[in-house]
Amino acid sequence: MSRAVLIQSVIGLGPAWEARPGWFEQHPAALSRQAEAPADVDLAPVEPPAPPRPDIVSQPEPTTLVAAQPSAKLPPLSAEPPPLSAEPPPIASPAPEVLPLLEWDALERAVRDCRDCRLCQTRTQTVFGRGNRQARWLLIGEAPGEQEDRQGQPFVGRAGQLLDNMLTATGLDRDRDVYIANVLKCRPPGNRNPGGDEIAACQSYLIQQIRHIQPTLILALGRFAAQTLLQTEKGIGQLRGKLHSYQDIPLIVSYHPAYLLRNQPDKLKAWQDLVFAKKTFGRLSAD
Ligand code: URA
Repeated sequence: MSRAVLIQSVIGLGPAWEARPGWFEQHPAALSRQAEAPADVDLAPVEPPAPPRPDIVSQPEPTTLVAAQPSAKLPPLSAEPPPLSAEPPPIASPAPEVLPLLEWDALERAVRDCRDCRLCQTRTQTVFGRGNRQARWLLIGEAPGEQEDRQGQPFVGRAGQLLDNMLTATGLDRDRDVYIANVLKCRPPGNRNPGGDEIAACQSYLIQQIRHIQPTLILALGRFAAQTLLQTEKGIGQLRGKLHSYQDIPLIVSYHPAYLLRNQPDKLKAWQDLVFAKKTFGRLSAD
């Protein structure tokens, strides 16, 4: 058994499986996601975009993982990351508007009391984020699901278990090494996709969280996080495997864990994204 296959099997990613051409595009889930996609998401950044870092090229996308038991004895990461692309940087952000930065506690209160969109009528409670505010990794998901809405914490359901396992396999402690937030702080009813107006209403909270944390690396999980931060309509397939940047912060795109639970064939690509992120983080930390 090759080392790569051994690692994948230890973290629950095996067996590798390749889809036939066109399989995913025509899959009913993909078609229904396209049909449900929110209309134009018109997002304005709070700060002027920083000039691109010379060491950052435009970057790639994500996949689906299967829940795996964390193991304290995982071998070191060794799989090869996807090749860096020579694509130009992502779509330029529209003219920025500078918003005042609330203190962290005030920001938490503002989120808790927020009534800026219809989701406040159906939520049980808001979900601000979890983890270490001084963490160097910032993971950004989509929106709270049922469990998160109940418990007030992000990624505590099945997708969260998978995310925890992925982090463990990558050598990251979810409480010490990362901060985890979502694009939306309230659950969309029935776990439907976030609406463009809901993302717009919530975006200043996420932007302020990023400005407070100032992470070394952002991992955008899923298309809503990626498209919101990169101001693009490109899909995950086009965005993963490349190093992007958000306001001069390096950003890598990967699949959303919930997607990976439904689309196991993409779990290998998600693992490659994590390897790529880990290597990128190592390089950035050494700079
Ligand atoms: N999916 C997300 O994007 N965020 C959560 O907090 C839970 C599930």
